[in-house]
Amino acid sequence: MSETDAILAALMNRRSIRYGFEDRPVGRETIERIVACGLAAPSSKNAQPWRFHIVTERMTLDLLADAVADASGVDSYVPHDPRTGEPYPQYRSTVLESAQVLRDVPATIWIENLGAFSAGRRTLLVAQQQAFAGALVGYGLELMGIGAAIENMWIAGNALGLAVSFLGDVVIAESDITAVLGLQNDLVGVIAFGYSSAFPQPPIDVRSFSDSPRVTWHGII
Ligand SMILES: Cc1cc2nc3c(=O)[nH]c(=O)nc-3n(C[C@H](O)[C@H](O)[C@H](O)COP(=O)(O)O)c2cc1C
Repeated sequence: MSETDAILAALMNRRSIRYGFEDRPVGRETIERIVACGLAAPSSKNAQPWRFHIVTERMTLDLLADAVADASGVDSYVPHDPRTGEPYPQYRSTVLESAQVLRDVPATIWIENLGAFSAGRRTLLVAQQQAFAGALVGYGLELMGIGAAIENMWIAGNALGLAVSFLGDVVIAESDITAVLGLQNDLVGVIAFGYSSAFPQPPIDVRSFSDSPRVTWHGII
């Protein structure tokens, strides 16, 4: 396979793997290579708004898993509609599954948004409306950079033979996790990874863009 094909295959075959983990640690050098790929991600103004907290200790992972599983509202923790304040009914909570993943994996990278532009959610919450609209753009840009870092680490993990998932819903236990990890700003989520015997389904067909409602061609090339 050519280098180009290998890179494209890595992107197209990426899946979330949440089960089948072997009782086998991930070595420090491997984790360092993954983190280096995260640090190399693009970010708006090159602000690099992230901090990565690496946790591999079983005791700490179990403590964090307990915090997630015991958080209040685990059954209804799904995105909310800002117009009603109500959870979107079409989604189901995956918080308890996320807690189980934390019990099963040997390695995690917890991602903190340092809030380079927004100063973080707590500041946004008390901003005046006009300041808030502009700050939301900055907040989005921070998260886009962090999203790029997550994807970099995800693909790097796969390239190193690891099964990977990203769990955003651990934010349900943000205050406990903040206390354990000493976060200074917002928790974004956690990348969980390990060696797994899981054999994921291939990516779904909808990724072919010829008839996708999510792709619009303007003009013909
Ligand atoms: C921002 C973001 C947040 C996510 N949060 C969770 C989560 O909390 N729990 C979980 O199991 N998967 C989570 N995922 C994984 C998605 O569910 C998954 O990527 C999607 O269903 C597509 O499946 P695939 O990754 O196997 O292609 C998240 C993914 C992203 C990008």
